[in-house]
Amino acid sequence: MECWPVLLLWGLPQIWASSEALRPPGRSPRLSGPRSTSAPPGSVGFRGLQVSSFANSSWTRTDGSGWLGPLQTHSWSNGSDIRCLRPWSRGTFSDRQWAQQQQLFRVYRSSFTRDIWAFAKTLHLDYPFEVQMSAGCEVRPGGPPEVFLSSAFQGSDILSFQGHFWVLAPDAPSWAETVSNTLNKDHETRDTIHWLLNDVCPQFLTGLLELGQQELEKQEKPEAWLSSGPPPGPGRLLLVCHVSGFHPEPVWVRWMQGQQELPGAQQGDVLPNADGTWYLRVTLDVAAGEAAGLACRVRHSSLGGQDIVLSWEGSHVPVGLIVTVVLASLLLIGGGIAFWHKKRCSYQDIL
Ligand SMILES: *[C@@H]1O[C@H](CO)[C@@H](O)[C@H](O)[C@H]1NC(C)=O
Ligand SMILES: *[C@@H]1O[C@H](CO)[C@@H](O)[C@H](O)[C@H]1NC(C)=O
Repeated sequence: MECWPVLLLWGLPQIWASSEALRPPGRSPRLSGPRSTSAPPGSVGFRGLQVSSFANSSWTRTDGSGWLGPLQTHSWSNGSDIRCLRPWSRGTFSDRQWAQQQQLFRVYRSSFTRDIWAFAKTLHLDYPFEVQMSAGCEVRPGGPPEVFLSSAFQGSDILSFQGHFWVLAPDAPSWAETVSNTLNKDHETRDTIHWLLNDVCPQFLTGLLELGQQELEKQEKPEAWLSSGPPPGPGRLLLVCHVSGFHPEPVWVRWMQGQQELPGAQQGDVLPNADGTWYLRVTLDVAAGEAAGLACRVRHSSLGGQDIVLSWEGSHVPVGLIVTVVLASLLLIGGGIAFWHKKRCSYQDIL
């Protein structure tokens, strides 16, 4: 596989410099991005991921994304340049440096595709298949950066880069050894990768952290409200808990009965609002008679431990009920007064 060294030599600089690095495949890389954000400021990393699908020997597409901690900073759609999603997504790179990286990345993309096709042919790999790449770095105050680079085939790790060498993943298929052996013969490429991971990536990350810190640490409180959706069936209710306007993205929303989480609630995707905050809805299908007393509970980092709890009575049924009761009372009282008045008049008439 003579193509691999070329691929990596060209590819990684672009990945890195343009910061389209990748995410460890062991943690099921997906374009939707990382969901957990436990990393405190100061140990936030940059990572990029790439997903390339090969349907057959003539059809392929590659997409990718770049992330600063929980924030997506870059996207990369097949056939187009890397798109910056934040005003500060270029970090402290100059226009010229950035243009260079885009150019390098274009070359990377075509050589990657060409080389994987050649690789599939040589090793007789069956189509369709998916290749994922994941790489990144994390800077720590007072310590060396932590770096990673790995690749996966059909969702399973095959290779990672450790120190100065390519290492096979424990359950890698036997053909992966051919690949790693070939790659390890190429000192220059390994030096380049080492440099990219240990120098370029931390530099880029430092620039991103400097410019994006405010957005990274931004805390926006969620608003929550309840509504009912289209009834799922006769005698059933669809309770909908809406949570919107929060940041960062991780949020915990459950339908509860007292302290008990109700299974069977359906959680939608966390969707972006236009202002950079997030929206989520969680629905619950219940028998109409069992909705009373259920509550939607929302936990979010911006709430400082004070969960939002909305109870179903407190929102809908009650409003309807109160209106009905009040109307009914008014009618009764009104009717009573009218009756009493009429009676009195007739007594007076008699008297
Ligand atoms: C390759 O895959 C694509 C997408 O699935 C399909 O449309 C196309 O017909 C395939 N081409 C060949 C030569 O099999
Ligand atoms: C993806 O981009 C490559 C290079 O521009 C192109 O050859 C390929 O047809 C594209 N794939 C799809 C599915 O659009």
